[in-house]
Amino acid sequence: MKHTKKVAAALLSGVLALQGAPFLNPSAAEGDLYVTDFEDGNVEAFSKRGDEDTSVIASCTEDAHGGSTCMSITGRSQGWNGPSISLESLGCEPGVQYLASAWVKMKWYNTVRLSMQYTDEDGQPHYDNLASIQSDGKWVQIPETKFSFTKNMKDVSIYIEGSDDADMWLDDFSLTAAPVYKIQDDIPGLKDVYHDYFKIGGAVTAKELSPSSTQDLILKHYNSLTLGNELKPENLLDQTATLAYYEETGDNTVPMVKLNGAAKIILDFCRDHDIPVRGHVLVWHSQTPYWFFTDDFTPEGTLVDKDTMLKRMENYIKGVFEVLEAEYPDVDFYAWDVVNEAWEDGGQPRQKGKYEDNNGSSAWVAVFGDNSFIEPAFEYARKYAPKETKLYYNDYNEYMQGKQEAIIKMATSLKEKGLIDGIGLQSHLNVTNNGTTDPFPSVQMYEAALKKYAELGLDLQVTELDATYTATVANGEKLQAEYYSGIMDAIVKYKDSISAVVFWGTTDDQSWRKENFPLLFDEKYQAKPCFDSIIDGITYTTTASTSTTSKTTTSSTSSETTPSTGLRGDVNCDNSVDVSDAVLLARFVAEDKTAVITESGKENADANNKDGLTSDDVVTILRIIAKLEK
Ligand code: GLA
Repeated sequence: MKHTKKVAAALLSGVLALQGAPFLNPSAAEGDLYVTDFEDGNVEAFSKRGDEDTSVIASCTEDAHGGSTCMSITGRSQGWNGPSISLESLGCEPGVQYLASAWVKMKWYNTVRLSMQYTDEDGQPHYDNLASIQSDGKWVQIPETKFSFTKNMKDVSIYIEGSDDADMWLDDFSLTAAPVYKIQDDIPGLKDVYHDYFKIGGAVTAKELSPSSTQDLILKHYNSLTLGNELKPENLLDQTATLAYYEETGDNTVPMVKLNGAAKIILDFCRDHDIPVRGHVLVWHSQTPYWFFTDDFTPEGTLVDKDTMLKRMENYIKGVFEVLEAEYPDVDFYAWDVVNEAWEDGGQPRQKGKYEDNNGSSAWVAVFGDNSFIEPAFEYARKYAPKETKLYYNDYNEYMQGKQEAIIKMATSLKEKGLIDGIGLQSHLNVTNNGTTDPFPSVQMYEAALKKYAELGLDLQVTELDATYTATVANGEKLQAEYYSGIMDAIVKYKDSISAVVFWGTTDDQSWRKENFPLLFDEKYQAKPCFDSIIDGITYTTTASTSTTSKTTTSSTSSETTPSTGLRGDVNCDNSVDVSDAVLLARFVAEDKTAVITESGKENADANNKDGLTSDDVVTILRIIAKLEK
């Protein structure tokens, strides 16, 4: 009888998982925060945006999406006018993830956006787009969109806007707390697995860092963090203080630098948990305000000359290191990207111009005429960075021949002058490419690039690793696991030249490439097959023991998703997957000696394709039976 209890417990936990476990209920998740179909005619939770917003928000009984009533927003005079709902008034809290969705209809073709507005610690308003969708004069759904805000963001609201002033209708609005998923405790930490080779890191923004599970994930797997946006020029440069100093002194060579609240959220976390930081980035054509380059520090001004810009650059770089030293003396900024993305794929400098007018163009090139700003950037970084900080040139498509040659030439010269320590290989990779299953770059191409850069005798860091696949491709997750495995094998081959491997993000849903599943963990913080494939076979030591991770993916030539001997989940090998399979496996997992599974049955029983047979496989089989999974 003993096993019956255990089986029941395993099955029960399986059923609980089917209902949404493993997740905890967040404190703020009790009940829906605000869900309305507008049938009661109440539109009071929504308000207009800004004093000059002429829109009229009213209850409307014409052509509702569901039921007979919706909300109309008429008389809008700007695209950004639209109904807004204050998060504080609903009791939303910083650090909690929420989900919002709504049905929207525009009078004519329009882009409809769900956006967030907040005020920063300096009283400056900010607007973040959360989701966009097209309405062709018909009802469309803004899909469930996850968002959160941080403690430095005040007066936070979400609102719906359009691309022009067309009348708008809203129905079936929902704002709820998102489920909170726990990280897996029973898998090895990546930083432990790779401890003897290089650091393993991730990039994170302040908003992404809010949920405690993201913090747990970082603490378990990463021993290096990159601030996703917060140490970029647009966030470090303080225009108000710069203008004030200029007005007072007449000196137009001193851009002022400050750390904003978002940067401090991440840096506090790094300080409190002793996590080394990769600084990213000092000199870049993108995410750098144009006013930094103009005579009067306004976006309308004219570009300054080279000498003025050199002085600005020096003062800026000096300012960055000073503010970090003053506010975070205990954080180890072990690496800094001094210059990012200065070379085109063909090996030439970027086009001269204003980034805002044309994405690829560079105001640095506009001022200097060419890439001669790179060397002084390294000179100043060397002069003002802490002695232990290593300095990098960082770029993408570092395997493209023209760009590669340009980087190697530049790095060789900087190395001779003692100005550079390493090359950062962003490594935004593609498992599938233009609808084909040919990856770009191929593993061979990537490895060849590692070889070339390693020959420079400089340190290498993989700084922004992610690898996407298209949802429609067959076996995408498996192809991704194989590709990641090949890339990591190549990286390990060059481990003596590589000091850090940094993923650009944490979980898929938080990534800038979220539509294409680029990372090692899914939105429920669960390790994907690519996690297993990259730790596969590596011997590593923890304080307690020495372990070797086991093979979990099939060879790179196979293209099946199910075990080769049969049907996934068919534990008793009777050619069907039903509750008897789940029960047999549950008994086996509960160590019931009378539960016998053949070798083929065991292969089929490893339904989640992860290490060994566990109650998670029981859960997966139950999900297959319930048709929640194929
Ligand atoms: C580039 C930059 C990063 C980041 C990514 C996209 O690779 O170096 O800072 O902006 O693009 O998120």
